[in-house]
Amino acid sequence: MIARLAFSSEGALRAAMKGHTVIVIDTLRASTTVTTILENGGVGVAPAATVEEARSKARELSGAFGGDVILAGERGGLRIPGFNFGNSPLEFTREVVEGKIVVLTTTNFTKVVQQAMRAPLVIAGCLRNAEAVASLARRESLRSGRKVTVVHSGRRGEFSPEDYVTACVIKCLIEGVEPPSHEECVLNSPSAKNLAELGFWEDVKYCSQLNVSVTVPILRNGIFVKS
Ligand code: MLT
Repeated sequence: MIARLAFSSEGALRAAMKGHTVIVIDTLRASTTVTTILENGGVGVAPAATVEEARSKARELSGAFGGDVILAGERGGLRIPGFNFGNSPLEFTREVVEGKIVVLTTTNFTKVVQQAMRAPLVIAGCLRNAEAVASLARRESLRSGRKVTVVHSGRRGEFSPEDYVTACVIKCLIEGVEPPSHEECVLNSPSAKNLAELGFWEDVKYCSQLNVSVTVPILRNGIFVKS
């Protein structure tokens, strides 16, 4: 079975319009963060493209959901002023997220997800859940006959090696062939260096771990939930 690769918001939109299953990758850090929140008992993660959209989604959801909504996100890697949390996966422990909904806005990932929304199935993929994502996508494709596109998000419209290598790993796992080694590529990427400068080297190490999670976030009514 063959999976395709695509790049950035444009690639996500094209794949969604063709009715493919779309896997969105932002290795450092957003798709890892979404996976961690759900793994630690978060009820859902609502992606928002802008800060304003995040604030209004949080208001809307706390009305509907009864108050337990966390507002999280980053710009330039740092927590947005006035938000409860940033985008570090390590912040979202079980104590913080269990039973809660997180509204998340990030520089790249949540914008790419917004373009993918029309796809019949949208999955958040990262290194930590690569095998679990690949096997869900493969199963779904065999069941529905739909093609699979793995989107490497990149950074502000530019290619990111860590997203590309993660997309290649997931594509290989879907196709049942040996995946490339990823570690050096992730640890030496410009995004990793930037995060290290901001004091988030532990995040980089966490995000570079392969196949340690079986949690697969899928979008349902615009909110990522556990598959
Ligand atoms: C993004 O979506 O742009 C990233 O995850 C950025 C970050 O983690 O700081």
